Amino acid sequence: MKRYQKNLIASLLFTLTGCASSGNVAPAVAPQSEDQPAEAATVAVAAENANGSTSFTDDQADGGREVFRSQCTECHASSEFADSQFKFKWSRRHAGSLYQMIQTQMPETAPGSLTDEETVGLVAYILRMNGFEPGETELSADPEVLDGISLSSIRN
Ligand code: HEC
Repeated sequence: MKRYQKNLIASLLFTLTGCASSGNVAPAVAPQSEDQPAEAATVAVAAENANGSTSFTDDQADGGREVFRSQCTECHASSEFADSQFKFKWSRRHAGSLYQMIQTQMPETAPGSLTDEETVGLVAYILRMNGFEPGETELSADPEVLDGISLSSIRN
């Protein structure tokens, strides 16, 4: 009886070990499938950005409007940043290019003087003027994030 049990356990162990070695692929695959939700989430955020939603907050856009009023209206009217010419030009680009352009070239009298926060606010303000919906998530000044936000939808 005991011997039988031992044999049973031994053969079970053998089977398990056998399974484990033939199933070596399984543990390698498992982490991948665990990674998939994260990848899927990244894709979802990118898709959201492409659709023009929830990539910046109302507060950021309001902050950008304040900066605009104090530093940009000397040369620009806000309507310039949502007219058909602006839409035509920028709809072929990404938010990262707009960010870069503003931060490195504007205001024309003091290029490079805007902080990351001010520049992100200005981009958020311009996005909002062009029909992007504000959401819960703040727009980041990370170039990779900004470069992932297509402005193609502003033409509509
Ligand atoms: C002293 C005048 C002046 C000030 C102040 C100024 N700009 Fe400009 N801005 C210009 C000029 C001139 C151009 C056109 C540059 C060109 O096309 O090469 C321009 C172009 C731009 C463009 C590109 C527009 C397009 O149709 O592509 C953006 C965006 C912009 N400015 C944003 C800003 C913001 C935001 C501020 C405030 C922080 C600002 N500017 C302040 C003079 C100014």
